[in-house]
Amino acid sequence: MSRSYYIAGNWKMHKTRAEAAELATALVKELRDGKHKYLVAPTFTALETVGAIVKRTNILLGAQNCAAEEQGAHTGEVSVLQLKDLGVQAVILGHSERRHTYKEDDALINKKVKLALKHGFEVILCVGELLEEREAGKAEAVCETQTVKGLEGVTAEELSKITIAYEPVWAIGTGKTATPEDADAIHAYIRKVVGKLYGADAAEKIIIQYGGSVKADNAALLMAKENIDGALVGGAALKPDTFVPIAKFG
Ligand code: 13P
Repeated sequence: MSRSYYIAGNWKMHKTRAEAAELATALVKELRDGKHKYLVAPTFTALETVGAIVKRTNILLGAQNCAAEEQGAHTGEVSVLQLKDLGVQAVILGHSERRHTYKEDDALINKKVKLALKHGFEVILCVGELLEEREAGKAEAVCETQTVKGLEGVTAEELSKITIAYEPVWAIGTGKTATPEDADAIHAYIRKVVGKLYGADAAEKIIIQYGGSVKADNAALLMAKENIDGALVGGAALKPDTFVPIAKFG
């Protein structure tokens, strides 16, 4: 398998600049000899501080969202131009908290994906089903729709800048992880969906991270699965002690 592992930390709405700097400084030191691809996504207000610390290291700087427009009268939003100005390299889009708490739909997320790609960012596109959707046997269908609609209009060339993160909503922040087998089955399905859209080669290459209560003690088991190529980590990304063992698994 030619895919490499990609471990990302989503710091969500945590940390002041000083706290973010402390974590970033520790990660730069601890992950210097790490073998995988890494990203940290601090809150907007800490991007500049963390960006200065991870610059020219093996850790990419990510944002947790961006506006769907380049600029204009959009109170409270942050534009790709402003993110680029801060040295941001990647944007997480379609996170379940954006979809469900802030009511972002597939069309809006797709607009953001295309705008971020147009400006040269890498994108982590999150997909995942709610508990009631899983219980109703709709997990695959939900992930398929979110993947297809999220990628609408994305060219085959642009796809190389996309990572998909499968984050079952019921596993986020709950301590309930999907079993490696269940997660792998959805990852395989998403890969098949990408194959239908872009062909077998693209499906083989695309990185699909798992997210949802990833911890040091389950990371290796999850990533041992054929279709799980990394992790998008929330709670455990907030401390070096809990993130470094995940980042350095294997
Ligand atoms: P937890 O690791 O806290 O479950 O969060 C996962 C997540 O939402 C990462 O984006």
